[in-house]
Amino acid sequence: MTNDTTGAEVTEAEIAVHWKEEEKYEPPVGFIAQANLTDVDVLERFGEEHFPECYKEYADLLDWDEYWHTTLDTSNPPFFRWFVGGRLNACYNCVDRHLDRYRNKTAIHFVPEPEDEAIQHVTYQELYVRVNEVAAMLRDFCGLRAGDTVTLHMPMVTELVVTMLACARIGVIHSQVFSGFSGKAAADRIVDARSRVLITMDAYHRGGKLLDHKQKADVAVAEAAAGGQTVEKVLVWERYPGHYSAETPLVEGRDFVVGELLERYRHQTVPPVSLPAEDTLFLMYTSGTTGRPKGAQHSIGGYLAYVTGTSKYIQDIHPEDVYWCMADIGWITGHSYIVYGPLALAASSVVFEGVPTHPDAGRPWRVAEELGVNIFHTSPTAIRALRRVGPDEPAKYHHHFKHMTTVGEPIEPEVWRWYYDVVGKREAVIVDTWWQTETGGFLCSTVPAIHPMKPGSAGPGVPGIYPIIYDDEGNELPPGSGKAGNICIRNPWPGRMLTIWGDDERFVDQYYRRYNRDPESKDWHDWPYFAGDGAVVSADGYFRILGRIDDVINVAGHRLGTKELESAALLVDEVGEAAVVPVADPVKGKVPHVFVSLKPGVAVDHKLEEEVTRVIAREIGPIAKPGRVWIVPDMPKTRSGKIMRRVLAAIANHQDVGDITTLANPQVVDEIRHMD
Ligand code: WTA
Repeated sequence: MTNDTTGAEVTEAEIAVHWKEEEKYEPPVGFIAQANLTDVDVLERFGEEHFPECYKEYADLLDWDEYWHTTLDTSNPPFFRWFVGGRLNACYNCVDRHLDRYRNKTAIHFVPEPEDEAIQHVTYQELYVRVNEVAAMLRDFCGLRAGDTVTLHMPMVTELVVTMLACARIGVIHSQVFSGFSGKAAADRIVDARSRVLITMDAYHRGGKLLDHKQKADVAVAEAAAGGQTVEKVLVWERYPGHYSAETPLVEGRDFVVGELLERYRHQTVPPVSLPAEDTLFLMYTSGTTGRPKGAQHSIGGYLAYVTGTSKYIQDIHPEDVYWCMADIGWITGHSYIVYGPLALAASSVVFEGVPTHPDAGRPWRVAEELGVNIFHTSPTAIRALRRVGPDEPAKYHHHFKHMTTVGEPIEPEVWRWYYDVVGKREAVIVDTWWQTETGGFLCSTVPAIHPMKPGSAGPGVPGIYPIIYDDEGNELPPGSGKAGNICIRNPWPGRMLTIWGDDERFVDQYYRRYNRDPESKDWHDWPYFAGDGAVVSADGYFRILGRIDDVINVAGHRLGTKELESAALLVDEVGEAAVVPVADPVKGKVPHVFVSLKPGVAVDHKLEEEVTRVIAREIGPIAKPGRVWIVPDMPKTRSGKIMRRVLAAIANHQDVGDITTLANPQVVDEIRHMD
């Protein structure tokens, strides 16, 4: 990867550790014997000569009201359209169609954080009844119709899944905001999505506390109003039905307790609305290269086909499996691989309210033991945290996983081996799945019963995905070149978002402009998808992801825009300038360090460090809390006045700062270094 010669930016890829080639592990024989996909022909069937018709195999996993006439329409690139002419309903595919065979089977195992609260098992029949009642309420009480948006700001509870599916049933576009995000962050997303209804919960458990979540709704509604969007109704689920658990009172005429409203809709059923495949299922906001979060707009048909196919073949989900993905449904991983993919396959999916290390690092393994979880899915951050506090815990429990997933960040080979040896007891296959909010589902991963695993590498493109690495000039860096470059996907695929909500131009600019060969071309070959990650590909075709090459930091598997953090820091009155850089962290992968210089005449006061941290947490949420706030006398700058983030990042990462002779103020570098 070439360094920007101004040195203005620093990327995760640049500070990535340089790993050596790792040895491969064969998938366990027991896994292969039962796997959904063992036929190596799949690699050929999904090869380029069968593209795009190969994706019929995924679409055929769904029930369609009307079959499509065109598998892929490339007439207006890069706005590719999949399964054109087809009609279906996502809720029907995740619920109704399973009733004949699986009515009495658990759809959701809800695991409350407090261990003395019983696990709740929600059958497909019960899910069907609840989803219908909520759909009736959304339609008749809120007046929501197909194509309207609604913002959800809900914790990890069954009611979140019910609400999402109820929206899908009537074609309402849901936009679930991670519950850990602040009211202000929810407001920004309400304004962008133009939602007039907010659905939330009074309270939930997190790390041993029952948090008042309703207070965030009040902030969200006020801030949204300031941003020009009126929220007419706030629907509040109760964590304990019949007992309102938040200190913050309900607002008369605006806030409604869902449980009370539902009395009116008892046992009502709402027919699933048959919708065009390319209509929108949901929005998922994510951080991008400019400050504003962008709404990844996902389709009904293409998305659902893609997550169902990858859930079946990469996650190896069978209806009899107990599947636990420990991600939060507030992120894309939860949408695709807790809710839509697994439920489309009639799996039993675990929804866990709490923190994995609370009250101790044995909790996940107790849950796995109690429920008989056999597929386990989590992030390197969670694995590192569990390993750090409870390296010997998994051995104390009798859980047996056949399959484990890692997602969200690169996993260090050493951490991978602990996952394999200790958590998986050498019985489970591991998939390291690389993908993004924008991509809907997995891009790179081994096919678990076919490919050997390589610690630290995601693997080849999954069937039907053709990745490539380009250098900055657009030349391919072939397998085994040893050089890092920008990973791209050469072809369209059904899971990719339709666009950025309300901003087609940004969509084209950010993902396609970079390597597009001809803006007039109608040929998909001319439109590689630019992912924004640095990567290398070894001679065996396995891709190793290094990290973000743009100004996004991946903290504990969550994407945060550095500009969003910088803008928050600047809300502190005394702060004159702010620069945020990624710093390697043994547990979280990367954490943001915030460098601030103060306005002229303001004396350095260490209370300001706390203030910057507090304001960032308030504006964005606790996950954005900086690892350190550095109050510096001045920012290192180029002669043209650009802040040299590369230099700041080098200092914070204890690396060599390189050549700084061209700086306007090189002496400040030493001063900052001595603060360390
Ligand atoms: C990173 C999460 C290495 C990457 C699904 C990507 C990964 C960003 C992996 C997307 C992986 C995700 N190995 N890095 N297996 N999976 N990433 O949108 O930088 O929250 O661009 O989607 O996470 O984060 P997002």
